[in-house]
Amino acid sequence: MPLATLRQVLDEAAKGGYGVGAFNVNNMEQVQGITEAAIEQASPVIMQASRGAIAYAGPNFLRHLIMAAAETAPEIPIVLHLDHGDKPETCLMAIDLGFTSVMMDGSLLADGKTPSDYDYNVAVTREVVAAAHAKGVSVEGELGTLGGIEDGHGSGEVHLTDPDQAVDFVEQTGVDALAVAIGTSHGAYKFTKKPTGDVLAMHLIEEIHGKLPETHMVMHGSSSVPQELVDRINAAGGKLEATYGVPVEEIQQGIRHGVRKVNVDTDGRLAITAALRETILANPKEFDPRAFFKPAREAMKAVVAERLTQFGAAGHAGDYEVLPLEAMAERYAGSPVGA
Ligand code: G3H
Ligand code: 13P
Ligand code: ZN
Repeated sequence: MPLATLRQVLDEAAKGGYGVGAFNVNNMEQVQGITEAAIEQASPVIMQASRGAIAYAGPNFLRHLIMAAAETAPEIPIVLHLDHGDKPETCLMAIDLGFTSVMMDGSLLADGKTPSDYDYNVAVTREVVAAAHAKGVSVEGELGTLGGIEDGHGSGEVHLTDPDQAVDFVEQTGVDALAVAIGTSHGAYKFTKKPTGDVLAMHLIEEIHGKLPETHMVMHGSSSVPQELVDRINAAGGKLEATYGVPVEEIQQGIRHGVRKVNVDTDGRLAITAALRETILANPKEFDPRAFFKPAREAMKAVVAERLTQFGAAGHAGDYEVLPLEAMAERYAGSPVGA
């Protein structure tokens, strides 16, 4: 099966009323863990690579790892998505590499730090949509900014998404999916107390869904930061501080109101780190790296399998045939932005 596009996978998720996990990948063990979880759960899945991931693995290794996943699991719709593209050139590079979906994060300037103005965001996103759709590739845009800074990415400031501006943004850009800012942030340190209804602006999701019922929303910063993983890391020599993530019930509430792509990176990182620390600590005479990476891969698989089930995507892999990029390009050609 060819790699799937984000557009098709999220259209199907909307029909089925579920969300699809988008998990960040940087290396073989993460790709394998996600693939195994998707096979086990018979679930569509999105694998996303940041610019940092592409730099870490190297573009060819990353692409071939995903191709290996697609060959291993032909029955699973797998999307290869660029996470937080910083400028149109990066998105075009990813499209040339074979990504079937790109995020143009025009909420920040190309430095990945400074919040941009609205006109800039519309202009760069529109430019990427035109180039991507001509090739059948899907585009995610972002309106509003998240808190937190990952690998130098992010302004650290939160600007919640304005629902009326969201309507205009989708109309002007033609994005397939819209990342909304509702008070989440990237990384392990999201909240200092368990977030309740007043911490996350879930009402914005409902409002945006009411105004844009056909638009697929994306929730970034959706790791739940399980206490159990934090405790295990610390018991094995780690020094993570007290922290809270996004409760799964809040994500499920979002899914009931149009959230279709749920971004999870940190939970996979925590699961892998817990397994690595424990195995290294418990086996001081071991020096075969496979002894450490195997449980790490299993830990990644477990967290991904749990999220795919919680988001409702499990069991939906066989609902549809993946459409190739050419078919998606034809679809877009029939309804250009602004027509
Ligand atoms: O949005 C951020 C993701 O967690 C990716 O993080 O840039 O450190 O790879 P990264
Ligand atoms: P987390 O840091 O919460 O996993 O968020 C990941 C993300 O939004 C990637 O774009
Ligand atoms: Zn993100």
